[in-house]
Amino acid sequence: MLIVASHNGAIGMRPAMAALRDGASAMDAVEVGTRLVEANPDEHSVGYNGYPNILGELELDASIMDGRTLDSGAVAAMRGFPYAISVARQVMERKLPHVLLAGEGAERFAREIGAEAWGEMLSDEVRQLWRGRLTTLGTDQADATLPEGTPLLDLVKVATDPERVGSTVNFLAIDSAGDICSGVSTSGWAWKYPGRIGDSPIIGAGNYADNRYGACCCTGMGEMAIRAGTARSVVLYLKMGMTLAEAAHTAMRDLRDLGGDYIGHMNLIALDRHGEHIGLSSEAGRAYIYQTGEMEAHQGVEREVVPILTR
Ligand code: GLY
Repeated sequence: MLIVASHNGAIGMRPAMAALRDGASAMDAVEVGTRLVEANPDEHSVGYNGYPNILGELELDASIMDGRTLDSGAVAAMRGFPYAISVARQVMERKLPHVLLAGEGAERFAREIGAEAWGEMLSDEVRQLWRGRLTTLGTDQADATLPEGTPLLDLVKVATDPERVGSTVNFLAIDSAGDICSGVSTSGWAWKYPGRIGDSPIIGAGNYADNRYGACCCTGMGEMAIRAGTARSVVLYLKMGMTLAEAAHTAMRDLRDLGGDYIGHMNLIALDRHGEHIGLSSEAGRAYIYQTGEMEAHQGVEREVVPILTR
């Protein structure tokens, strides 16, 4: 048994491992762990109290993938429902003929299945931060709203705050049957354009799992993982016979081929079917965490650095 997560998954590690020890599936463990991060008001890149879009609305993305069957479920730009990972799982388990639901469709589905809805998704503190950001862009603080029809195209480009672009939570698990599951949940970029969807709900970009080879999840600037197909690349490189380290490093180096104005930092965690794990980042000082069934508590590991910024 093994759980590997991004460092902000620490709050969910113990319950997720307890679930695995009780015989739960890898998918149950991923959901248990992720939900605790989604409910954590101090985590501003995931679930409740994440940073909102430019209109002050919190839009959540999440996906989950079953390595046994390659079944997956995902939601994107979903408002009002904090446990995006659970709604994503239900997209898969209710046997919809779809993998990914977005926006109002995702919200309608969440209501239909009775997903837990929270009326207020932001604390006053986060709402103040959003107002402050609008104020610095010339909006009246007393009424920091953007009237219907306000052009957002240029505003969003300057509103982007590099410090708040992409954290996100990742969980990878292997259960006692050797089955693998991967899950990702995020509120995405702070102050993003409404409807912006990152890599987290895109199977192959921010999330991929296949029992036969391994699994990978990403955090960071999602646009890059979408363009490079990063999570699937790692698993495909494993399928092609690379070691886990070779596969993960090659997928990170692939990001160097991307051009354009929006090139930022990327991070990934990955494991192979034997339970080897690795964490990489394009910047120094980033950690990930893991726990095996034999360990009393999770342990942090510094991620290896793979520079990808060429300019
Ligand atoms: N990696 C999370 C996002 O870009 O939304």
